[in-house]
Amino acid sequence: MKVAVIGTGYVGLTTAVSLAVKGHQVLGIDVVKHKIDRLMQGQSPIYEPGLDQVLKQVLEQENIFFTTRLHEAKEAQVIFVCVGTPEAANGEADLTYLHAALQEIEELHSQAPVERVVVIKSTVPVGTGDHAASRLCHCADLHVVSNPEFLREGCALEDALQPSRIVVGADSQKAMNIMKEMYKGISAPWVETTRANAELIKYASNAFLATRISFMNELARLSSEIGTDVSTISQGMGLDSRIGPQFLRAGVGYGGSCFPKDTIALLNLAKRHGVNLSILEKVREVNATQPLWFLEQLHKQMPDLYGKRIALLGLAFKPDTDDIREAPSLTILDALQRSGALIVAYDPVASNHVKELFPDAEYTSTPEAVFQGAHAALLVTEWKECVELDWAKIMEMMEVPLLFDGRNAWPARALEEAGFFYKGVGRS
Ligand SMILES: NC(=O)c1ccc[n+]([C@@H]2O[C@H](COP(=O)([O-])OP(=O)(O)OC[C@H]3O[C@@H](n4cnc5c(N)ncnc54)[C@H](O)[C@@H]3O)[C@@H](O)[C@H]2O)c1
Repeated sequence: MKVAVIGTGYVGLTTAVSLAVKGHQVLGIDVVKHKIDRLMQGQSPIYEPGLDQVLKQVLEQENIFFTTRLHEAKEAQVIFVCVGTPEAANGEADLTYLHAALQEIEELHSQAPVERVVVIKSTVPVGTGDHAASRLCHCADLHVVSNPEFLREGCALEDALQPSRIVVGADSQKAMNIMKEMYKGISAPWVETTRANAELIKYASNAFLATRISFMNELARLSSEIGTDVSTISQGMGLDSRIGPQFLRAGVGYGGSCFPKDTIALLNLAKRHGVNLSILEKVREVNATQPLWFLEQLHKQMPDLYGKRIALLGLAFKPDTDDIREAPSLTILDALQRSGALIVAYDPVASNHVKELFPDAEYTSTPEAVFQGAHAALLVTEWKECVELDWAKIMEMMEVPLLFDGRNAWPARALEEAGFFYKGVGRS
């Protein structure tokens, strides 16, 4: 099928490439010209494992092209909208980019009125799809579908090709059939519903995952007081098939481009309808304080951080991505700088993004180098190279061997036996 994808960020680019892999003719569109130039050369503007290689392959097969102009997509039967929906100043989702994309689609359709489906893949508040459908209702043969995305950065391509589920909200069988045809080569449980249900499934899923994380982070705080081990607690809980092991790891709090903005958007949506989602309020509160709670553990050992050299390992909001949106590392960096600490940080791919926000910190090109002369080291993102380290060498490099493991990923017992002071998140 001929498919256009508006927005070539984490979601749009992955969607475009995976559909091209499945043999569709895909046109990726973005307003940022240098992204398009890079993409046409087979270089992904975002870091996503495996994406560059598959991108080059589909470009060679001529299954994918990129442009800044939607009107080159006159023949597109399906147009995906994958633009950002960031948090607006009032906490609601900012739909400016979405409305701009819909406007362009309206113009395209008036020039080339073929039967087509507009698929809203961006995460949008309940009612947005219905609103878009009424806005575009004068466009004959144009269907609006809600098809939220559930991919995880770091394994986005894999998730797009083998999704946990495909949720499609539509109000016509014709649109549903076109969507089925488009996803024919991808096998996954299929949820057929209304646009509003599809939109809420997305927000509810993210809110629930965020809830699990904050729940474990509070249990970690309790564990820390009573001498239990939250890693073991989560292992024991996760073996219950009614609970499952995912998203039960305590840490420095969730971040990223989705959970923070989607939880606040859902709260605001509920508020507008007179409903108080009190559990979710608490989830956000725990998350906002979790990086600070983590830093308190450092302060307990080192009350005065002024002039102290503090090593940070990992800056991206999670491993295998360069995304630093709402990353806990930013809160930690900010608080440490305010305390007068000298920060030396390492991340395999995200340092350049963080450097723009914190130019005064020092950034190293290897994980080991951060330990040189450090008075304490903090694991913030559990990249493999930040976890698998030569601890004997590090013991020699550190000024003071204090380790704070924000992801419970370092080998606690071995480190203590080797003479380090080790403090995890709720780990005995
Ligand atoms: N990143 C994730 O892990 C993820 C997962 C599931 C859902 N989502 C949702 O998907 C949406 C996109 O997220 P993302 O992380 O890919 O965002 P992103 O910021 O990485 O990408 C958005 C892209 O859209 C482009 N754009 C904006 N307006 C445009 C227009 N009018 N025409 C063409 N291009 C335009 C931007 O230049 C940018 O490249 C959001 O609603 C997000 O909540 C994200």
